[in-house]
Amino acid sequence: MQKFFVNSDTCTKCGICIAVCPSYLLYKNSDNLTKFKEEKLHLCIGCGQCMAVCNTKSVFANGLTYEKDFFEFSENKDFVSLLEQRRSVRRFKPKPVSKEELEKILFTVSQAPHGDAHHNVEITVINNREKIMESLPLMSAFYDKLAKWLHNPIMRSIIKKRKGKDTLNTLMNHLLPRIEGGLYKQIDTDYDGITRGSHTLMIFHAHKDSEEHKEDAFILVTYAMLTAHSLGLGATIVGLVPAALNKEPELRKMFGIPDDHDSVISLIMGYPKYKYKRGIKRNLKKINWIT
Ligand SMILES: Cc1cc2nc3c(=O)[nH]c(=O)nc-3n(C[C@H](O)[C@H](O)[C@H](O)COP(=O)(O)O)c2cc1C
Repeated sequence: MQKFFVNSDTCTKCGICIAVCPSYLLYKNSDNLTKFKEEKLHLCIGCGQCMAVCNTKSVFANGLTYEKDFFEFSENKDFVSLLEQRRSVRRFKPKPVSKEELEKILFTVSQAPHGDAHHNVEITVINNREKIMESLPLMSAFYDKLAKWLHNPIMRSIIKKRKGKDTLNTLMNHLLPRIEGGLYKQIDTDYDGITRGSHTLMIFHAHKDSEEHKEDAFILVTYAMLTAHSLGLGATIVGLVPAALNKEPELRKMFGIPDDHDSVISLIMGYPKYKYKRGIKRNLKKINWIT
């Protein structure tokens, strides 16, 4: 069995797998058949989204199988089933999230645990696609600049010293091939490779010296993502936005983020365009039981 394959006998050509792939790995060829881009398969993150949305189980990616790596949704309406059905949603209907829903999300976020006596993390909510679009050329240019740095051995050793070997490895192995594959260059009203066409972007940032702000920001973004999902919205945590914000003063100015703030993480959000048909099994690295 091939590692990447679309069964053209059963494929209905709906194109949803093409739309949800975060790395743009599928396309329709001149015969209107859905195919994988053979030359770009190294960009597959094995997320399984193309298979999770397929009505007819026709798509096969990264060696995953429907029997072994997916599960049917349960009928339950409890919190566990809610979590089972969450996915990182990257395709949205073209409209901003309602103020009422955003306020509900911000309320549950306010209930999240925090490391200091009070919340230190600020949230900037941009609920306007035009404003997001304005920032994208600068973000895209930042990633082009980063690619140049990553090809320079002196810059690589500075990054390794300042940010650690793990960050450098992520940049080299995960980010660089995506920048060079042109993923962050696409900037259209309805889709882009960074904010995925979203009309709603939340940025979680805090004063650089405030205690435990990074940990808190990750908890807050998780609360926001799960509340969004519980309301029928879709969301994806996006690390690309804060990385650019921390390096580009002009971007911070656009969103009114103070220069002495650390942007930790962001969340894109919207009304999902597509439904997932099944869940994707995720294996934890290792569970060490001590009983
Ligand atoms: C810290 C963090 C940063 C992430 N950054 C991005 C990002 O910049 N762009 C993106 O499309 N997805 C991003 N994701 C989403 C992951 O790709 C996604 O969670 C993963 O592929 C698993 O898919 P699932 O959430 O659908 O289970 C990020 C997730 C986390 C936790």
